[in-house]
Amino acid sequence: MEQRAVIGMLTVSDRASRGEYEDRGGPAIQAYLDEVVTSDWEPLAGVISDDREVIEETLIEWIDRRGCCLVITTGGTGPAPRDVTPEATEAVSEKMMPGFGELMRKVSLEKVPTAILSRQTAGIRGKALIVNLPGSPKAIRECLDAVFAAIPYCVDLIGGPYLTTDPERIVAFRPKAK
Ligand code: MTE
Repeated sequence: MEQRAVIGMLTVSDRASRGEYEDRGGPAIQAYLDEVVTSDWEPLAGVISDDREVIEETLIEWIDRRGCCLVITTGGTGPAPRDVTPEATEAVSEKMMPGFGELMRKVSLEKVPTAILSRQTAGIRGKALIVNLPGSPKAIRECLDAVFAAIPYCVDLIGGPYLTTDPERIVAFRPKAK
């Protein structure tokens, strides 16, 4: 039976979670996935504060109980005292995937010198990949364009559903074709 693909889009922002401004990150991730992912998938979206415990609890709930195969976070990756998304990601992950952060920073540095301020990373929990993006909505597309070609194969390798993409946008690279 085909596995259901649930993809989490988690905005981590004190101000957006208090309603002080509209969340633009979550909708930007959804728009990106709508454009790129061609296999069936189900969105799970949320806006939470920059509290490490809340971030960890949400990641655990979404992966262990709601069955996400991929959770994309936005925000909380910088140097400010309340920026703790990478720490929460690492705390709930069994394995870190540092290449994601390295590549996203490299590509982002070609756009903005302050890309060096993002500590964005990625990790594996169970059958899910967690990828951190910075909070800037503009960063979402730039970062996902850099790494998305490797995401479907990563999800295959951890036992998740078979994700396909629109090759006009992103060619999902699978070294060993299924
Ligand atoms: N990466 C891209 N591609 N575009 C951006 O505008 N902003 C940077 C950086 N990475 C940015 C980016 C800035 S200014 C900061 S402070 C860090 O991401 C951390 O952002 P965050 O705390 O909102 O996650």
